[in-house]
Order: sequence, then structure tokens, then C-alpha cells
Amino acid sequence: MITIPAAKPIIGDDERAAVDRVLQSGMLAQGSEVAAFESEFSEVVAGRHCMAVNSGTSALHMALLAAGVGSGDEVIVPSFTFAATANSVVLAGATPVFADIDDFFCLDPAAVERAISTRTRAIMPVHLYGHPASMDRLSAIAATRGLLLFEDAAQAHAAAFGGTPVGAHGIAAAFSFYPTKNMTSGEGGMVVTADEGVARQVRLLRNQGQEIRYRNEIVGFNTRMTDIHAAIGRVQLAKLGGWTTQRRANAAALDVGLRNVVIPKVAPGATHVYHQYTIRVPGHDRDAFAEQLNGRGIGTGVFYPVPNHELPSLARYAKGVDLPRTSAAAAECLSLPVHPSLSPQDLDRIIEAVNTVAKAGA
Ligand SMILES: Cc1ncc(COP(=O)(O)O)c(C=O)c1O
Repeated sequence: MITIPAAKPIIGDDERAAVDRVLQSGMLAQGSEVAAFESEFSEVVAGRHCMAVNSGTSALHMALLAAGVGSGDEVIVPSFTFAATANSVVLAGATPVFADIDDFFCLDPAAVERAISTRTRAIMPVHLYGHPASMDRLSAIAATRGLLLFEDAAQAHAAAFGGTPVGAHGIAAAFSFYPTKNMTSGEGGMVVTADEGVARQVRLLRNQGQEIRYRNEIVGFNTRMTDIHAAIGRVQLAKLGGWTTQRRANAAALDVGLRNVVIPKVAPGATHVYHQYTIRVPGHDRDAFAEQLNGRGIGTGVFYPVPNHELPSLARYAKGVDLPRTSAAAAECLSLPVHPSLSPQDLDRIIEAVNTVAKAGA
């Protein structure tokens, strides 16, 4: 029995040819491929400035620093996310404040309002699993309370809220091109902003603080993307639209076929791109449920078994924090394969296996 993997990066001859072209050119570091990738990516984020960096984590980190978030500032983040979200806040010298999630696994605007203090500087929702956070309400809160709004769009390339693409809602956003994401560059990230000043600051920060060589203006990092990675990213970006359509079609088939589990909800106004297709299995032992599926050749993922506010690395920022919806999601969530390489037979196998295990009561 062949196992259907939970995620599958799709790398073909086009990607190999693009890498070869760069290798043959002898120009490997940040150069014309990065510039082309940035301008092409700009088309999926409503024409905003795009700055490629070496990871999604760097993109979040550079975005926060460039917008002036730092020591003494609080940034409201979800706890139900990958640790990179809160890590970037800590790396910028600020303090993450964890707030609970809504029915869509994203930051709950009402919980954000409750978490605001005199030190709050910014809100950073995560478009988790490819589902956009409630950007209408979060934008309204940010505007009324004078807060910066950042988007962690690491998992949500080409998702949209209210017809506006993710990445085009706040002061700045960060995307990831890690191999299992909806598109990859090997490793990589993109900072997106409409603000000229933030864009320039990111360009400086990623390159040792220099725009002109050896005329360093500020203390910066080396978080540049290489032309090798950008070349892969450009090929993948051209395929993103087709892959997204396929992911959404796969999710629709799962929605129709699955029984006795909680299928993912989609908020009004949201365009979900299904980086993950995440069900909930309340009343079941989730890990036993996953094992049963794995035994039937269905790969699964749990994102995330331990919420950020309970991690040894971040718990110090969460004293006295109670996030019941986050804890319930961490115990019940289970991601099924939804990637564009699934065949109709694969989808049938996934549906049959999940329905059998759900009925048997794992
Ligand atoms: C929600 C979220 N934020 C940030 C990141 C960080 O991205 P990267 O792994 O490219 O550093 C990831 C991905 O891994 C992520 O899923």
C-alpha cells in the first residue's frame, strides 16, 4: 500500500532548468533573479513593494524592525501558530501578547480587543492553514486604536479577504517559501508593504544596512535571498494559480465526502487557499485517530500540538494567559492531505479511511 503523503513539494524540469541557468551564469547571490521574483510576486499582493529574504521568519523579523517595533512594545499574536510568529516579535525586542482564536483557527478580533494595553503597538494575525484572518474587523480595531497591523501570510499565498489579497491589508506582511508551503523557493520569504519607508528599511536591514556598497547606513543582517532560490520561486509562482485551484477543488471534494468529523469552516468574505485541510475530531483521541489513518496509508499532520503560550521558549510571555479555544484546537485538530498532486482515487481513499475511523470511534 502506497502512503499518500501529508504534503508534497512539486519540483519539475522547469525548476531544475531555472537553477541550472543561474548556476551557469556564475552570478549566484542576490541579483537579477531576485529582482524579477520581487516584481512578479508584487502582482499577487496588489502591486505592493516586495523584498525577498532568506526565510519567512526573517521576513516577519525584518518587517517588524523596519516599521519601528521594538523594546517596550507589545504585539498581539495568536498562540495557535508556528513558533516563528511570536519568535519574530521577541527577536525584534518586543513582547508577544497571546490572544485566542475564532471558529476559523485565526486570531479572534474580540479577543484582540481584550488584550490591548497601553503598551500595545501592533496586531499580527496569522492566516493559518491558508484561511485569511478577519481582516475587516482587525483593520477597524487597528485604525480606531492607532495600532500597526502586520500579516503573517506564511501559509496563505493568494488567499484573500473581502476581495483584497492577503499581504495587502496592513503596514507589512510576510510570506514563507519553505518547501511544504503552497509554493517554494527551497527556503525563502517575502516582505510586502505599501510604505516606501518600510520598504527601504527592509532593503537596508537584509543587506548589512547598505544600499550602496560599503556605505553602510545602519546595522543590519545578511538575510538576502540567493538568485538560485529566486529562480525556483519564479517558476513556482507561475504555477501557483493552477495549484491553488486544485487545492480548493480537493478541499471541496473532502467537504462533500467526509462524515462524523468537523470539516474546516470558511468565513464570509474569505478566500481559503487550503495550505492545510484541517478537520477537528472532538470526542476522539486525536493521536489515535491519526495513527489509524497512517495505518491505512493516509499521511496526516498536527499543526500545532503545543500552542505557543505553552512552549518552554515562549511560556514566560504567557503568565496567567488562558486560551480555551486554542487549547481545544490543539487537542482536536488533524490535517489531511490536500496538496495538488492528489488524484481522484487518492481523495476517495482519504474519505473512506476518515469515515471508517470516525465511525469506529478511535
Ligand atoms: C505561520 C508561520 N509563520 C512563519 C513561518 C516561518 O517561515 P519560515 O519557515 O520560512 O521561516 C511559518 C513557516 O514555517 C509559518 O507557518
